[in-house]
Amino acid sequence: MNSGARLTGLRDGLARLRGREIEVKTSGELDVMRAAGAVVARTLAAVTAAARPGVSTADLDELAEQCIRDAGAIPSFYGYLGYPASICASVNEQIVHGIPSATQVLADGDLISIDCGAIVDGWHGDAAVTVEVGSVTDADRALSAACRDALQGGIAAVRVDARLTDISAAVQQAAVEAAGRDGARYGIVAEYGGHGIGSSMHMEPFLPNLGPPGRGPRLRPGMVLAIEPMLTAGAPRTTELADGWTVVAADGSRAVHWEHSVAVTEDGPWVLTELPAK
Ligand code: MF3
Ligand code: CO
Repeated sequence: MNSGARLTGLRDGLARLRGREIEVKTSGELDVMRAAGAVVARTLAAVTAAARPGVSTADLDELAEQCIRDAGAIPSFYGYLGYPASICASVNEQIVHGIPSATQVLADGDLISIDCGAIVDGWHGDAAVTVEVGSVTDADRALSAACRDALQGGIAAVRVDARLTDISAAVQQAAVEAAGRDGARYGIVAEYGGHGIGSSMHMEPFLPNLGPPGRGPRLRPGMVLAIEPMLTAGAPRTTELADGWTVVAADGSRAVHWEHSVAVTEDGPWVLTELPAK
């Protein structure tokens, strides 16, 4: 189980916290998860708008915490296995789990992944966006769009009776197709992936971002998955910084990350963390 934080600590922590069954939500519970997802969506929209040159990632964290608390929700990342902030802010070669810092000041051309989670009445939402700071290179814009396409590909594979890794294969296929269009070769990060979500942030099952379809449990109405592809502009291999959290591309290439929490329903995927219409 290597969704979420670093492999060892998280795996042990999660094993104590929950069983191996995939949690199935009632429609009332899904409505509450949608409320949590909407808080996350609004927070990410605010943070995206604020992510400009000269702003620190600690500033963004402060804004996010304010947005979440103003909505009457709880920031789920803060204190999670000792994590010290309400968002992850992963700049450039950082892939995920970057810790916000007052000394990390955004500059024109940076590419930052912002990951955010909120709890409403005990139910979790988790989503991430990659934001272009000022004007980025065409290659970086294409990389982020490819990862977003990979997320959309995964979402489109969510349907009742599909197998779990049908999503994985769809994520991979969309990423490979995007790379083909871009005349690029992207690394699909395999050491981290998506996860079940609901009454906790990280639950069964682990959702790989690549691999053959047709494996793993069948999707049932009421299951919710956080789908979160991570791409690099180079090799997919990762390393973790000495802070014990920040995951970076081992070859120093640019990295991006997009995520939504998605419910399985009889009517197809329900993206709980998309921005509400009004
Ligand atoms: N969306 C992130 C993930 O599933 C959440 C990390 S929260 C942290 O990996 F607190 F562990 F940083
Ligand atoms: Co997640």
